[in-house]
Amino acid sequence: MTPKCPADHPAVLETTRRDLLLASGAAAVATAFPPGVNQLHAQEASQAFEPIPLRLSVNANPVELTVDPRMSLLDMLREELGLTGTKKGCDHGQCGACTILLNGRRVNACLTLAVMHEGDEVRTIEGVGEPGKLHPLQMAFVARDGYQCGYCTPGQICSALGMIEEAKQGWPSHVSADVAQRDIALTEAEIRERMSGNICRCAAYPNIVAAIRDVAVEA
Ligand code: FES
Ligand code: FES
Repeated sequence: MTPKCPADHPAVLETTRRDLLLASGAAAVATAFPPGVNQLHAQEASQAFEPIPLRLSVNANPVELTVDPRMSLLDMLREELGLTGTKKGCDHGQCGACTILLNGRRVNACLTLAVMHEGDEVRTIEGVGEPGKLHPLQMAFVARDGYQCGYCTPGQICSALGMIEEAKQGWPSHVSADVAQRDIALTEAEIRERMSGNICRCAAYPNIVAAIRDVAVEA
């Protein structure tokens, strides 16, 4: 039987629906952006992402490079400078694996953009010690068996260095009994609290705390 109307035919109906969608999509774009606007946006976007020159100090060495303004400090260290000692765990500021020292303070390198650090001083685990010339904290981690897979260890050590300095400067923590007290003893509770941003999935915590205490109490 011949369909009464072309639209009653399934093939015609399918074609009509597809054409309608394409046509309405094109119409929507045409309505949203006057001629030339798309091109303008593309130009602005490409200008916004142009590499930016950056000068900073990394492990006491001057570094000059150009970076994508969207690049994190963590990615810059690992991918542009080849300093892979700093680890990427979560890339969301939740594990502490990427902890470095920035102008002496511990920071999650995944949470900050490289371009924000013109003139800053960065210290990574490569600048803490090296084989044959380990930092006392690294030696304590070895002596105390403070790591298993070792993935969290660079961040733990950088964080511990920053934390020991914070305590020396009298910064209280959540467990400090007296926040006005300047002379902070790094008890096990203080160390656990201050290191709580550094996750160890191997759960080497008792040994990590013991290693940090060995150095912190002597410091
Ligand atoms: S990788 Fe930065 S906090 Fe986890
Ligand atoms: S030693 Fe394996 S994650 Fe900490």
